[in-house]
Amino acid sequence: MNNYNNTTMFRDVSSCNTYDYGNSLYWDARYIQESGSFDWYQRYSALRPFVRRFVPTSSRVLMVGCGNAVISEDMVKDGYEEIMNVDISTVAIDMMRGKHAHIPQLKYMQMDVRDMSFFQDDSFGSVIDKGTLDSLMCGTEAIISASRMLGEVSRLLKPGGVYMLITYGDPHVRMPYINRSVYNWKIELYIIPRPGFEGSAVASIKSCLEPIPLSEDGLIPPDFVLQDPDCHFIYICRKNEEPANIASHPLAGDKL
Ligand SMILES: C[S@@+](CC[C@H](N)C(=O)[O-])C[C@H]1O[C@@H](n2cnc3c(N)ncnc32)[C@H](O)[C@@H]1O
Repeated sequence: MNNYNNTTMFRDVSSCNTYDYGNSLYWDARYIQESGSFDWYQRYSALRPFVRRFVPTSSRVLMVGCGNAVISEDMVKDGYEEIMNVDISTVAIDMMRGKHAHIPQLKYMQMDVRDMSFFQDDSFGSVIDKGTLDSLMCGTEAIISASRMLGEVSRLLKPGGVYMLITYGDPHVRMPYINRSVYNWKIELYIIPRPGFEGSAVASIKSCLEPIPLSEDGLIPPDFVLQDPDCHFIYICRKNEEPANIASHPLAGDKL
C-alpha cells in the first residue's frame, strides 16, 4: 500500500517518452499491425458499475478515441442504444466499422477530438474517454490539445450530461486541465485497481463506488491511503444545468 503523498504517485508522461501516443501516424501504424481488439486500462466488466451508474442506457453516447476496444460492443450488449465512436486513426475506424456493420447501435467516424465541429452543441448525453486525453497529453502541443479536446467535450455535452474520463493521471496532473470553470463541470473522483491487482485488501466494488473526498483545490488529501499505486482514476465530470458564470474572459478564475 502506498501513502498518497508518495512522490511515485506523480505519474503522467513516463510512457510518452517511449511511444509516440500523441501522433496519429503512430496509431495508424499500430492498428495496421494489430487487427484484433484491445482495451486499454480496463475492460467493460470492471467499468460496468460506473458506466451503468453514470451513463443512462438511453443516452446518446460519444466514445472519444475508440481505437479497437471492445467496450462499445459490450455496452450495446448491455442495453446501450446509440454509441458514436470517433478516432483520429482511419485504420481503426475502417476496421471497426467493418467489424460492427451488423450492429446498428454502433456508429463510427474518423475525427480529431480537438475539432468535433461536425456535431452541434449539446448533441450527447454522455462522453466516455478511456486513454484518449492521456494520449493527447503525450503530444508535442499537449496543453493546447487537451484544452481543445476538453472544450469540445464540454460543448457537445447536454446540460446534466457526464464526461467519464478513465485515466492513469492522478488529480495533480489531471485536475489543472479538467477543473476549469469554462467547462462548467462538477467533478467527482473514483479509483479502481488495475486488472489483476492482488493487494492484501483489494477494494470491493462497493467501496470503489464511493467518491474519493477531495480537498478544496480538487486534490486527494495527503493522508489518503492508496491500495494500488498503479490504479486507474475515473473522473466523473457532470455538466451543470446552468450556463457557466464567466465574468469577463472565458478563462477567468482558472489556474492554467
Ligand atoms: C490509449 S488508446 C485508447 C483506445 C480505447 N479508448 C481503449 O480504451 O482501448 C488512445 C486512442 O486515442 C486515439 N487518438 C489519439 N489522438 C486522437 C485525436 N486527436 N483525436 C481522436 N482520437 C485520437 C488513438 O488513435 C487511440 O485509438
